[in-house]
Amino acid sequence: MKTNKLAQVALLLWGVTIAVLLWFFLRGSTAAGTDGRTAIMLHPAERELVLSEMRGLLVATQGILEGANQGDIPRIIKAARAGGMAGTAGVNPALMAKLPLEFKALGMSIHHEMDEIAKAADDGRPTTELLKMTSDTLTKCVACHAAWQLKTN
Ligand code: HEC
Repeated sequence: MKTNKLAQVALLLWGVTIAVLLWFFLRGSTAAGTDGRTAIMLHPAERELVLSEMRGLLVATQGILEGANQGDIPRIIKAARAGGMAGTAGVNPALMAKLPLEFKALGMSIHHEMDEIAKAADDGRPTTELLKMTSDTLTKCVACHAAWQLKTN
């Protein structure tokens, strides 16, 4: 009987721990932002890392559009690939834990789509299709920027 109660308490504690961990995992390190958006709280170096990844995404987007304008398919492939999953190498587990799940999912889908654009260009898909894919991806840049800001603590 006594062991049974102990087991129940242990199970309950275990459940609470999992629930708390899950809550942190989903929510990340966030606070109310200064302009109506949700702020993600990072160390200065982490914020700089995310922002440099962002500038990389802008460079990739510019490269894709310039390549499309000039009919330069290798330029599109190179630019899109640089914005793909390969560009996420610097993100460590501590930083990952601070980013809310929704933010990570959106960020990952962008990198994935950049790889898809590179592949489509490599497969000889028409430029109009590549531009449509890029435009769809840019919608996600806009959506994410509308929802989150990066602050330091
Ligand atoms: C998962 C969310 C997310 C996605 C997706 C996203 N961004 Fe960002 N980006 C942010 C946040 C948050 C900031 C910081 C905004 C702030 O603090 O006001 C930012 C900042 C930037 C900056 C400013 C960098 C600097 O040095 O200050 C650029 C440029 C940028 N993003 C480009 C892009 C482009 C281009 C895309 C799409 C190809 C993109 N971002 C997709 C979240 C995102």
